[in-house]
Amino acid sequence: MNVEQQHYRTIWPDTQTRYVTIIDQTRLPFAFELVRIDSVAAMVTAINTMQVRGAPLIGVSAAYGIALAMNQDTSDAALAMAAQQLLQSRPTAVNLAWAVQRMQTYLTQLPTSLRRDGAWQEVATMADEDVLQNQAIGRHGLVCIQKRYTDKPVQILTHCNAGWLATVDYGTALAPIYAAHDAGIPVHVWVDETRPRNQGASLTAWELAQHGVPHTVITDNAGGHLMQHGQVDMVIVGADRVTRTGDVCNKIGTYLKALAAFDQQIPFYAAVPSPTIDWQIENGLLDIEIEARNPEEVAWIQGLTAQGTIENVRVIPLQSQALNPAFDVTPARLVTGIITEKGVYAPDMLTSLQSH
Ligand code: MRU
Repeated sequence: MNVEQQHYRTIWPDTQTRYVTIIDQTRLPFAFELVRIDSVAAMVTAINTMQVRGAPLIGVSAAYGIALAMNQDTSDAALAMAAQQLLQSRPTAVNLAWAVQRMQTYLTQLPTSLRRDGAWQEVATMADEDVLQNQAIGRHGLVCIQKRYTDKPVQILTHCNAGWLATVDYGTALAPIYAAHDAGIPVHVWVDETRPRNQGASLTAWELAQHGVPHTVITDNAGGHLMQHGQVDMVIVGADRVTRTGDVCNKIGTYLKALAAFDQQIPFYAAVPSPTIDWQIENGLLDIEIEARNPEEVAWIQGLTAQGTIENVRVIPLQSQALNPAFDVTPARLVTGIITEKGVYAPDMLTSLQSH
């Protein structure tokens, strides 16, 4: 993705020094800042504080965390310790556990003398795979958008940020939107602001603007109203974990959009690379740990002051408590299709993806 005409991925290694650079997503959209990550502990903090976030990027970041650990110590004990630290950083996105396990499996069968180089090679492969998967999601999702195109711009609602910033590049839910825009199909995106951390307002809107895609930021509560008035042609969201039965766990508030879309007979798609599918579980409501984040994220909001500084202000009474579940589960019955790198699947056909 281009930022001010320069191409960036969200994360990249320095092959000489073997540290990693990330874009600090807590500073966007008002400041574009790069941060150097040089240890597994620093990567755990970056994931937990959401300097990097979004399921596919969390996975690749965790894999880089393992590689950083191997810079210091390639023993089995060091590998196990790094894996444990990373697994505890955020629980809901299955990509994290998937990536850590892939690195552990790969490195364990190497002699310790080869683990340092091996780790950096394997994570580079994973990052490139993520980019290719997202490009393929874009191609398959483009067909879904084309089906909704008549003579007016296709109106697409999205929630949270499942764009370039949530992956290594291209994005998942936004990949088909970029593909449509680049193919000359007029699209307009309704961007849910996505309280409490406002990933829609601050990240999705920013990256759509960088790419020149027409969009409008709306409050989280506006989507149902727009659907009732014929102003939404389709919904595309990302996901942090999808069950083998097609239940979709994504940013809190996704379920309400799926309910409204179902009521209005508007297609509702989740766009996910296959590492986001948890083949071990069937029931999204019972089997997925929903991350409970700090209630302070609800009590405080970040913005740009008239003086140009980025500051936090409190938006609830000092005496009030807040609750901050970070994700919810949309049952498969509300989902029209899962857009993957291998094609678009009805939720009840998702298991056939395993054999493709
Ligand atoms: O808490 P976040 O910002 O990591 O949550 C991100 C989301 O919910 C995204 O929609 C999801 O990870 C899909 S990202 C391609």
